[in-house]
Amino acid sequence: MKIFRIALFGAITLAPCHFSAALAQGAGPQSSQSAKQETATKQPWMNSSLDPDVRADLMIHEMTLDEKIQLVHGAGWGVLREGAPVLPGHNGGAGFVPGIPRLHLPDINLADSAVGIRMAALHSRYATLLPSVLGMSASWDPDAAFLYGSVIGRELRAQGYNMSIGGGVDLIREPRNGRNFEYSSEDPILGGIMVGQLARGVQSNHIMGDIKHYVLNDQETGRNILNAVLDRRAMRETDLLAFQIAIGAAQPAGVMCSYNRVIGDYACESDYVLNQILKHDWGFKGFVLSDWGGTHSTVKAALAGLDMDQPGNDGYFSEPLKQAVLDGKVSQARLDDMIHRIVRSMFATGVIDEPPVQSVVDPFRGRDDAQKIEEEGAVLLQNSEGILPLDPAKIRSIAIIGGHADVGVISGGGSAQVDAPGGNAIDPKPGPSPWGKAIYFPSSPLKYIREQAAPGANVIYDPGTDKALAAKAAASSQIAIVFVTQWMSEGRDSATLSLPDDQDALVAAVAAANPNTVVVLETGGPVTMPWAKDVKAILESWYPGIGGGQAIANILFGRVNPSAKLPVTFAASDSDLPHPKVPGLKETAGLNRDPAVRDLTRTRLEPFDVDYNVEGMAVGYRWFQEKNRKPLFPFGFGLSYSKFAYSNLKVEPGGKSVHFDLRNTGSRAGDEIAEVYVTLPAGAGEPFRKLAAWKRVSLAAGAVQAIDIPIDPLFLSVFSTDNDQWSRPAGDFLFEVGGSSADLPLSYTLGQAASR
Ligand code: BGC
Repeated sequence: MKIFRIALFGAITLAPCHFSAALAQGAGPQSSQSAKQETATKQPWMNSSLDPDVRADLMIHEMTLDEKIQLVHGAGWGVLREGAPVLPGHNGGAGFVPGIPRLHLPDINLADSAVGIRMAALHSRYATLLPSVLGMSASWDPDAAFLYGSVIGRELRAQGYNMSIGGGVDLIREPRNGRNFEYSSEDPILGGIMVGQLARGVQSNHIMGDIKHYVLNDQETGRNILNAVLDRRAMRETDLLAFQIAIGAAQPAGVMCSYNRVIGDYACESDYVLNQILKHDWGFKGFVLSDWGGTHSTVKAALAGLDMDQPGNDGYFSEPLKQAVLDGKVSQARLDDMIHRIVRSMFATGVIDEPPVQSVVDPFRGRDDAQKIEEEGAVLLQNSEGILPLDPAKIRSIAIIGGHADVGVISGGGSAQVDAPGGNAIDPKPGPSPWGKAIYFPSSPLKYIREQAAPGANVIYDPGTDKALAAKAAASSQIAIVFVTQWMSEGRDSATLSLPDDQDALVAAVAAANPNTVVVLETGGPVTMPWAKDVKAILESWYPGIGGGQAIANILFGRVNPSAKLPVTFAASDSDLPHPKVPGLKETAGLNRDPAVRDLTRTRLEPFDVDYNVEGMAVGYRWFQEKNRKPLFPFGFGLSYSKFAYSNLKVEPGGKSVHFDLRNTGSRAGDEIAEVYVTLPAGAGEPFRKLAAWKRVSLAAGAVQAIDIPIDPLFLSVFSTDNDQWSRPAGDFLFEVGGSSADLPLSYTLGQAASR
């Protein structure tokens, strides 16, 4: 018994935030209350009624120089690299910063958690795989985004972490970017709002949240060596605006600066993006941490606004920073500012007062949440002759083809990879999910389709590996449902928008054999569909998460009425994009590993510029409008099993809000995402409509509702680099309202006089 107790105590002391966790697990509410009071008397910063900034300053006053230096860098690669030391207290995540027990400052344990918590398997833990961030954003539902973040926060807490390093909000400028599944949208307002809510959800669990990768890390090819070039106004109105909105909404503890250069300087040592914009203009109070290995200097980075070097083994912010402070190259005040930002964020988010208490992650709750988000986020792109929802009373046979739909759903790779329970569903082996392989999660669409088809219906599965056999299976069934997958990952971009592994030919073969073909896409982002006209229905399920199989079946059979809209444009071909080829990518096909990721020295590769001024402010749907090109499926588009009618648009003077009526003219209840776009006066130099606001509305069949949507004045403004200010241009503003960026039945011109 004694041994057991010692072992247990040992476990607690080694756990993250062990110091405070032990406190939190004191003898009882009263004694822990009086212990807290006693501590607060001796250590006034432990008085939770004080302001986080005051508490931080009180604590910093007591810190030695060495303690301060210890806080501004991580303890190395830890579990990420074989052979790297793992310190006691390290919880097994991507990052670890030891705390200062004598001051009651807990360790910081950081976990990658873009779509769920990474590396859970290493410690036999479970983590919920959520749908991709892009899939969640397709719900256009800020509550779903908050829920998404709260699942992550809840599970981080249960696993003993106190900081998330998810929260990707890089703009989808490059639809072939390997990490788009971690990001939210090509539109800064949609992306910023959704990721802001996601990070709020994380922080609502007393976990430090993070927004990344700041900024213009819009492709993986050459991410460590490329210089993103974009004029300052365009940057403020696009990529930076997404960050501004997300950071403003969430007030995250951390902002992770990216690997790439931004107009000349590495993002992690750019005075312009860190000091001037993030900290000065936006008033960000948290700390800037580098992406892993993204720090390139000591003095320059420290003076530019970097507050924490991760994973910290490069030595920039350890001894060299201490020396720079002693030499006066970095002032003591700047070092204190770094510490202040870190410590105040710990107080503000509650990781000191409400430290994580380890518990068993609830996989059932996580799965239900993931399924709900997926049901709101899967986009019905095509549904001719009302083939969907499938009517079990009429369907006797279904052929399910491809995509490993018999066993599960695909997930995204890289540092966003979540470990699949039971191992990769297509090749179960014990151990963590390997980097660089497509991992399937055990949520079988086939199983749930079988459950929902009529008893006695013949539902067969064909793996789709042989087109002739697949066509035969399709021909023998009333309905053919083809599952196609596109695996994407950090460190790679896809050379083209085409589906990999000859899947276009598979769909074409099935469609030729069966006129009632439905395609379910499981993709990281937009893909081309040369077969679109030959199939009846298309459902984009993104990476659907651990509840994906059931969510897909629920939509196919109409238990759920689809409601999502595309958060990104689906181009008809690569040649329609602003950059027909991924800049810097030498390959012409397949998913390509970025050479700069392989070459860790990054010295043998030629740095290159990516000229984002080609499209400038005209990202995504704006480009298609400006160039008058027709996408395959436009931004904001998505079908429902209901239909919605818009009427009576009015715009308040000053463009403060819009009002209109929305009617469900269909025969079933459904949600409509009503979208508001604004075209600024001609003199603004932005010849395209931009999303300004939206509302997701639930309507019973036949119901009509008067809708009011407030407009944020910022979204009617342009950024002037003459005075670094936003201002409203003079002239007529065109407001358009409807259910897709390409279908806007209502319009209203707010004349110059009424627009101020
Ligand atoms: C990624 C980050 C991630 C970090 C730690 C980097 O390669 O770009 O998003 O948080 O690794 O795993």
